Amino acid sequence: MNIAYQGKTKTGKEIIVRYLEMADLEKMLDFINDLSDEKTFVRYQGEHETVDSEKKYLEGRLEAIKSGETVHLLVFCDGKLVGASDVHMMDKTEKHIGMLGISVSKNFRGEGIGKILMNLIEEEAKKKLSNLKMITLGVYFTNTIARDCTKKWGLQSMEYYQTESAGTVSSRTRF
Ligand SMILES: CC(C)(COP(=O)(O)OP(=O)(O)OC[C@H]1O[C@@H](n2cnc3c(N)ncnc32)[C@H](O)[C@@H]1OP(=O)(O)O)[C@@H](O)C(=O)NCCC(=O)NCCS
Repeated sequence: MNIAYQGKTKTGKEIIVRYLEMADLEKMLDFINDLSDEKTFVRYQGEHETVDSEKKYLEGRLEAIKSGETVHLLVFCDGKLVGASDVHMMDKTEKHIGMLGISVSKNFRGEGIGKILMNLIEEEAKKKLSNLKMITLGVYFTNTIARDCTKKWGLQSMEYYQTESAGTVSSRTRF
């Protein structure tokens, strides 16, 4: 098992952060479906993945990690998957840009897990993604917590823009 971090949250919960594995399929399925049911600030708004669709996603992710196009970390607390973050390289004229995703389970937010994950995923991305020049993070305009986080987490040179249709804002950082 490739552990990227082991430590405690602000309230003293033991967490482990590591790369995803094929054996994480069921936990990843529960995680994304719970997040979707919550209808929080993510693309999923109640839709459910299935074992088959999640298996395809996971296989694709493992391939992309092998070929250096993706870094993807999971956070576990007492064996439960409670957080995930990834940076996935885009293509064509955007092949220098990595798209970042991050989410923490509802009952584990505000304990510093997001901050830990963000630092780890950025380090991993810089190490493993050879074309990476910029990380992009899409944040819904009304997601004030995530917008605060991007500032606190030290994203520099942010460009905010709002798209009419989705009402989203993206922040970008160069390093
Ligand atoms: C955004 C998210 C990943 C942050 O993860 P987290 O583990 O809660 O983050 P942290 O505990 O490290 O908190 C980081 C900062 O967030 C802010 N924050 C966290 N919870 C907050 C709350 N309930 N109210 C206000 N601010 C809050 C604080 O500014 C905090 O900074 P601090 O440590 O100086 O107090 C998490 O809230 C989440 O998954 N939300 C739902 C999905 C989502 O919004 N994903 C992000 C898409 S861009």
